[in-house]
Amino acid sequence: MTPRHFSQFEQAQKSYQTRAKDYDSSWHPQYTARFMELIDIQPGDRVLVLACGTGLEAVIACPLVGDNGLVTALDASAAMMDVCRKKQATDEILSRRLVLIQHDVTDLESCEHLEKGSYDVIICSNAFVLFDDPGRVVSQWAGYLRRGGRLIVDIPHENHPRQGLFMKKAIQQMGMTYPASRSWIESVDSFRGILEARQLHVFRVEALDKEPGKGHVFLGREEIGSMFDYITQDHLMQCLADEQFRSKARLLFEREWDSATEREGNGKVKVSYVLYVYVAEKV
Ligand SMILES: C[S@@+](CC[C@H](N)C(=O)[O-])C[C@H]1O[C@@H](n2cnc3c(N)ncnc32)[C@H](O)[C@@H]1O
Repeated sequence: MTPRHFSQFEQAQKSYQTRAKDYDSSWHPQYTARFMELIDIQPGDRVLVLACGTGLEAVIACPLVGDNGLVTALDASAAMMDVCRKKQATDEILSRRLVLIQHDVTDLESCEHLEKGSYDVIICSNAFVLFDDPGRVVSQWAGYLRRGGRLIVDIPHENHPRQGLFMKKAIQQMGMTYPASRSWIESVDSFRGILEARQLHVFRVEALDKEPGKGHVFLGREEIGSMFDYITQDHLMQCLADEQFRSKARLLFEREWDSATEREGNGKVKVSYVLYVYVAEKV
């Protein structure tokens, strides 16, 4: 059986088709509220929200930009954007100041509605880690900022999710491609280097717990089963529906887990539910 290859954009569309309905009942709204506090949005600002999902960032940005500003928000998923459209339909400020566009944020060049060099603020939260080539994506986005404009992006801590890192290595050993690419995140400096190589001066990095006070946990071997089930329940892992693939992947996953606990020396693996938020200015 050869697993069908989906592009990252198609994967996002499938993945969020079912997640859209309950998305706003998850940890995301309270996280986004804290994330947005790190961004100084001014009246008149032109804000571009990339991978806007259900519009959590846009809903906060729209009242701040005033009637002379504008928020343009892009996402892959029709289902996620429908949730946002419902909010827009009942909110006068959103209906005046928010433009929603279904488009691939890793290919802004083909989006005719966007103007290069014109945005004061570009935001991408809880999505950047999904993209395959971080340097290429940042270069492209930087081209849409005006000089002095700011790019604000969060990425997960290098220890989150640990099960994702183990799964990626397991899947690769089976000759397949893991759908989320995050192996470039080795420390807080990994993304700083990517940004600063592209005329973006990083002047603030904040570590934000996904939920306040729940940043780091240590998991013992008894958690392997539930961690494996959690990471493989995603439809992107459907290639593992085949029992043979699944048990092989599980074996390799356990090996990765064990070698990590050996390296860390305390019989547990550290999982960090923390995101690094980078605020960078175009120089
Ligand atoms: C975890 S949600 C984040 C949504 C929002 N930024 C938030 O923090 O609530 C990830 C979003 O990224 C979108 N996405 C993933 N890949 C994309 C791509 N290539 N182009 C546009 N949107 C994408 C998904 O559709 C999904 O809505």
